[in-house]
Amino acid sequence: MEIRKVGVIGCGLMGSGIAQASAMSGYATVVGEVSQALLEKGLSAIEKSLAKLVEKGALSSEQKTASTARLTPTLRLEDFSDCDLVIEAIIENLDRKKELFGKLDAIVKPEAIFASNTSSLSVTEMMTATQRAPRFLGLHFFNPVPLMKLVEVVRTVVTDPAAVQVALDFARRLGKTPVLTSDRAGFIVNRLLVPYLLDAIRALEEGFGTIEDIDQGMKLGCNHPMGPFTLLDFVGIDTTYYIAEILFNEYREKRFAPPPLLKRMVLAGLYGRKTGKGFYDYTDPKSPLPNKALIG
Ligand code: CAA
Ligand code: NAD
Repeated sequence: MEIRKVGVIGCGLMGSGIAQASAMSGYATVVGEVSQALLEKGLSAIEKSLAKLVEKGALSSEQKTASTARLTPTLRLEDFSDCDLVIEAIIENLDRKKELFGKLDAIVKPEAIFASNTSSLSVTEMMTATQRAPRFLGLHFFNPVPLMKLVEVVRTVVTDPAAVQVALDFARRLGKTPVLTSDRAGFIVNRLLVPYLLDAIRALEEGFGTIEDIDQGMKLGCNHPMGPFTLLDFVGIDTTYYIAEILFNEYREKRFAPPPLLKRMVLAGLYGRKTGKGFYDYTDPKSPLPNKALIG
């Protein structure tokens, strides 16, 4: 199947990036949200990112205008009916995702491929909400989507190899490098990354160092672009917590267990960059200050 029209559902951190990458690569792209305000927030993030790329010389202003013109924002699932590929990027919650895929299955043409951008949930379980098992897979992008080169293509035990090939080709057309993985919670990258991030929180709670010193340690000691707390705030404290819970429930291993501080930060609404406060306070986004109230 040739992909001409792409649908992206959810226009948050990831959905906005995926819709942007799709439109920049020449695809007519429908992007959906649950409210006009959230849709506008996501579209404004796309606008900012496109402007940055123009500023850097990575995109011409004509290409920016053409990319924006390829985007169709919507609040109606019916507008996805003639998409060839629909990528779901809503909150990391199995029931919400299954409910969405169940509704979409009745609306979108049967030959279309469905993909989830889930970080940790079972693609196979989401697939059971639909009648299109051979055309259901995972397309796991990385944050920030416009800059990150990797896409994990997740196949289930019943995904049609032809659909996998379409997904691999689509990722390449977006300028990404795909890796193929099977439907195991966390896939390749989060299976390794999430225990590291959770361990950084434990190290903080155990007094190994301050937020800033642990971040600096991993940045300068291992040449990571971001220390673990900056990365946690970047990914989202809420999203990391949901992922950890899912991985822990799947494997029952302590290294995946969310530390108590992570849960309390979610309860308190400290979601990281997206809410202005997490391990750092982003009141001045150019020089974030460590959130000293978290420890002690
Ligand atoms: N769109 C377009 N351009 C962007 C951008 C965006 N969204 N964000 C940043 N940029 C540009 C900036 O304009 C800047 O350009 P120049 O270098 O030409 O000036 C460049 O990217 C670098 O930006 P910054 O100086 O602001 O920041 P940086 O040097 O720290 O780079 C980064 C930003 C690429 C995000 C880098 O810090 C990084 O790679 N961090 C790690 C990201 C990571 O690990 N992501 C994976 C998260 S895990 C995940 O996604 C999976 C999951 O399921 C949870
Ligand atoms: P987010 O909270 O920034 O965005 C999710 C968006 O989905 C919200 O704007 C919400 O309003 C919207 N939404 C919820 N239900 C919806 C529905 N039924 N229809 C349309 N929109 C709906 O979250 P995010 O960080 O973008 O994560 C989205 C997905 O991507 C999750 O599955 C997450 O695990 C995965 N993911 C996240 C990251 C990351 O670094 N944050 C990286 C890779 C994958």
